[in-house]
Amino acid sequence: MEYSFLIQKALDGREFAYCPYSGFAVGAALLCSDGEVYTGCNIESSSYSPSNCAERTAFFKAISDGKQEFAALAVIGAPKGENLPFPQCVPCGVCLQVINEFCTGDFPIILAQSTQQYTVHTLRDLLPLGFRLDAKEESI
Ligand code: THU
Repeated sequence: MEYSFLIQKALDGREFAYCPYSGFAVGAALLCSDGEVYTGCNIESSSYSPSNCAERTAFFKAISDGKQEFAALAVIGAPKGENLPFPQCVPCGVCLQVINEFCTGDFPIILAQSTQQYTVHTLRDLLPLGFRLDAKEESI
């Protein structure tokens, strides 16, 4: 599959990153199975720990709109002001665990450096032993 369109959406989402503390701006775009796309950005807090990553923002927006079937996630991030292509930005463990709640191991996660440069990973690649209460569905 060609993911340039989804990466462009992630870049669009990144424009809204609120990251005055880290200066690191991240964008995510979540493609739902019905074709709708939800964007997300990171949102930081002066007390740091309540900060939210771009990936979780996208997921929480979609889930709070009633979506639960997802087809792919694109992520792109770098220090604010940096020019493309960026180094790859890999989702943190907390975000991967949230993704694991709603997606199966074959869920594609696109790590983008620009709209044309990206690698496609699976959730299983990035979180091989994620916790699931219903672990019977997926064995190693
Ligand atoms: N961040 C994300 O939004 N997604 C990632 O995949 C990695 C990190 C955010 C969290 C924080 O606001 C900033 O980037 C620096 O860690």
